[in-house]
Amino acid sequence: MERLGTETAFSVLAKAKALEAEGREIIHLEIGEPDFDTPDHVVEAGCRALRDGHTHYTPTAGIPELREAIAADVTRSRGIDVGPEQVVVTPGGKPIMFFTILALVDEGDEVLLPNPAFPIYESMVNFVGAKPVFVPLRQEHGFRFDLEDVRAGLSECTRLVILNSPANPTGGVLTTDDIAGLTDILRERPDVYVLSDEIYSRLLYTGDFASIASEPGLGPDGRTIILDGFSKTYAMTGWRLGYGVMPVPLAEEVAKLQVNSNSCTSAATQRAGLAALGGPQDAVESMLAEFRARRDLIVAGLNELPGVECITPQGAFYAFPRITETGHPADDLAELLLDEAGVACLSGTAFGRYGEGHLRLSYANSRENIALALERMGRVLSRVAR
Ligand SMILES: Cc1ncc(COP(=O)(O)O)c(C=O)c1O
Repeated sequence: MERLGTETAFSVLAKAKALEAEGREIIHLEIGEPDFDTPDHVVEAGCRALRDGHTHYTPTAGIPELREAIAADVTRSRGIDVGPEQVVVTPGGKPIMFFTILALVDEGDEVLLPNPAFPIYESMVNFVGAKPVFVPLRQEHGFRFDLEDVRAGLSECTRLVILNSPANPTGGVLTTDDIAGLTDILRERPDVYVLSDEIYSRLLYTGDFASIASEPGLGPDGRTIILDGFSKTYAMTGWRLGYGVMPVPLAEEVAKLQVNSNSCTSAATQRAGLAALGGPQDAVESMLAEFRARRDLIVAGLNELPGVECITPQGAFYAFPRITETGHPADDLAELLLDEAGVACLSGTAFGRYGEGHLRLSYANSRENIALALERMGRVLSRVAR
C-alpha cells in the first residue's frame, strides 16, 4: 500500500474547506471540475430513469444502448470503426487507468508517461511494481512531448505508453505532427500498448482534436486504449460515468476486473449518459466559450503578477504558470497563497517532480472570482516575491 499515491487536489480542498469552516473566504482554483451544472435534459433523463425503475444492476460492461452510442460517437469523432464490444462503461474515466494498468502491466515492466501529469498514472504504475519512465513536459516546448525524449525513454521492458491530450495539469495539446512522430516511433514497437487519456478531448480551444487512435495500426482494434467520459464534457463529475475503448480481448479482461470491484456502473447514470450523447450539444459549446474567456482573463492576469509567467493553454481548464522568479518553491508558494491570499491552488509538484517551479490553477470558477483571486495574489506576491 505504501506504493500507492494520491491526488493532492482532494487534500487541498479539505484544507480549504477547514479554513472556510473557521470563517475565511477562500477562492477555489484547486479542484479540476466544471463549476457548471449538468445540462437540464441530462438531469431529467437521470431522474426519469430512476422513476421508470432503472434501479437495478446492469450488464458489467454497460447497458447495450450506451455501449452502442459510445461506439458510434467514437467512430465519428476519431474517424475509426469502433464496435460496442470494444467499449467498457465505468464509474468515471479513472477506473480505466486502474483496470488497464492492472490488466497489462507486470512487476518489472516499464511504463512511459508524461511528467508533470495526472498523478494517478504514476501511482498505479508504482502500485503494480512497474517502473515509471518520465517524458518531461517543458514550458519552452508548449508542454508537448519532445519526441527525442520518447525515443530515449523506450526500452526492451516498455509495456505501455501513456498519453494525455489535452493535458492536465498543463493545458498542453499534442499536434497532428506530434501524433505522426509518435506513431512512427510506436510502429517500430508493436509489443507496446498505448493508453490515450482523452477525457478533455472536447475542451479544445483551437483546431481539431487529434487522437493517436485514428492512426492506422494504432487504433483500439490493435493496441490503443482510449479513456474518455462524461465528467468534464457534460459537467457530470459527481454522476461517475466514463469509459474505455480497447481491443476486444482486453475489454473482456477489464470487464472481469469491473465485476470484481464495482459490478457495474449506476443504471440511472448510464441512462443520463445516453441522453447526454444523443441530445443537443449546445451546453458543451457554451461551456467551452466561457472557459475560453476565463482562460484569457487568467493568463493575462497571471502574466501581470511579479515573478509569474504563464503560456496560453490550448485545452482543458488549467493554467500552469512558472513561478520560479518569485523566489519561492512551488509547495511553499501554494501554501502561502492559501494562507495569506485565501486562494486555493495546487503546487506543480502534485503532478510529479518536473512540475517544480509551477502552480496549477483551475479556471473552472466564475470570472468575478478569478479576477478577485488575481487581485489577492497580486497583493501577496508584491510583498513576498523577490
Ligand atoms: C487527465 C485526467 N484523466 C482522467 C480523469 C478522471 O476523470 P473522472 O472524474 O471521469 O474519473 C481526470 C480527472 O480529473 C483527469 O484530469
